[in-house]
This record gives sequence, structure tokens and C-alpha cells, in this order.
Amino acid sequence: MMKLLSQHPIGSHTQIWLIFNSPSNPTGAAYSAEELKMLTDVLLEFPKVNILSDDIYEHLTFDDFNFVTLVEVEPKLYDRTVTCNGVSKGYAMTGWRIGYAGGPKKIISAMRKIQSQSTSNPCTISQWAALAALTGPKDFIHENKYIFEERRNLVVKELSTIDGISCPIPNGAFYVYPDISKLIGKKTQSGNVISNDEQFALSLLEEKNVAVVFGAAFGLSPNFRISFATSMDELQTACDRISSFCKNLVD
Ligand SMILES: Cc1ncc(COP(=O)(O)O)c(C=O)c1O
Repeated sequence: MMKLLSQHPIGSHTQIWLIFNSPSNPTGAAYSAEELKMLTDVLLEFPKVNILSDDIYEHLTFDDFNFVTLVEVEPKLYDRTVTCNGVSKGYAMTGWRIGYAGGPKKIISAMRKIQSQSTSNPCTISQWAALAALTGPKDFIHENKYIFEERRNLVVKELSTIDGISCPIPNGAFYVYPDISKLIGKKTQSGNVISNDEQFALSLLEEKNVAVVFGAAFGLSPNFRISFATSMDELQTACDRISSFCKNLVD
């Protein structure tokens, strides 16, 4: 990052933003306080860089991972950080369309100006529901963590038994992002060549009816993303089908 910023000198009107998301969609990776400190040390050297921190998966972390924000690690970044969050993930309220942000007054009032002229406001029913979620009992957040952790463990275990798939263990969110570089160039039962991760996802959908998102869509290949925000039975079926799909690939 330091090299990138040094190569692009910042003019007086240039706005540079670092968009930061941990735990991450699509990988499920999460930055520890020590890792964040390394990042914030670099950011301190570049005072014109603003930060948009997307903390939406804050409540979905596993194995006693301790969620902290960039600004908690380095309070000096407070004046140039916009922190956003929402009720879609931790409160399982995806359809309610409520997100919120905190940050420097100037930026938040500019955001309000744009939003009030484009989408006006979310309906009051959603706003009251979000208020109830944020101020109500939180026990279910803890329970949900274990449900998601169980699902993650199942998917990682199953994918790790498949030849040619290498699956890192995510610390948070509800995604796994396995590497399939060893499968590139192989042929499916129907004769399709797995030339890249998009072809992998398409063939898996056509031949086994399993929907995944290919890595190129996120800028990192050859990988694919599985969301494990579904039941253990569905996940087991999906993993069995992915396994059978991969076993039938030929050179
Ligand atoms: C990184 C990230 N930020 C924010 C959101 C929340 O989106 P929404 O509130 O529109 O459901 C998501 C949902 O997929 C996400 O993955």
C-alpha cells in the first residue's frame, strides 16, 4: 500500500479512499488487532487518505476471534474514517434495507444531501425494526455465531477432502473462498474444459445444480465463493455434489 500511495502523489483536491472490510466478503478473512496496527501505521504516514470501514460482519466471527476496528486500534484516524454497518448480517435482517454510518460531520452531511435527493429515506417500519434490533436483547447474536461456526466447520472439512481444492479457514462472515488452481485445464463429464473459475462455476451449476460465485467477479482467481448462510442439510448436499463433480474431472 505504501508503494502504491508513493507512486500516486496526492494533489490538494484529490480524494483518496481506502475501502476496508473485515471480516470480509468474499473470503471470510478477518484482521486481528496486531494486523490492523501494521495497516494503521502506514495510514498515519498518509494523512490525505480517507478510510471507509465496512464493519457489517462485526458480530459474525469464529474461534474466539476478537473483532476490533481500525479506529479502536489507532484513534488518530478517527477524523478521517467513515464507519458503516447495518442490520443485514448480525441481526439477520437483510430485506429490511437498513444501514448506517458514522464519521466526520462534513462527510456525513454531504452523504445526507445526496441520499435525500436520490432515495429519500427507508420506510419507518424498517427504521423502528432496526432500532428494536440494536437496542433489544443480544443473546441470539452469540447463539448464531455457534450455528455459523458449525456450518463453516462442515464446509471446510468437506471441501478439504476434495482433491484439487484448497480451502483456507475463515475467521468470520459466512463465506469460504477455496482455491481451485489445481483443477484448471481439466475436463468435466460433459466435456467442458475448466479454463478458469467462471467456467468452473458455470459447469457446477449446469451439471450439479450448485450455485457458487466465481472468484474473477471479486478480482482474485482461480477461486470460488460459497455462502454458508443456509442449513447444514443443504450444505452437506452441496458439498457432496461438488465432491462428485470434482471426482469426475479428467485431465
Ligand atoms: C461487505 C458487505 N457490506 C455490506 C453488506 C450489506 O448489504 P445490505 O445491507 O444491502 O444487505 C454486505 C452484504 O452482502 C456485504 O457483504
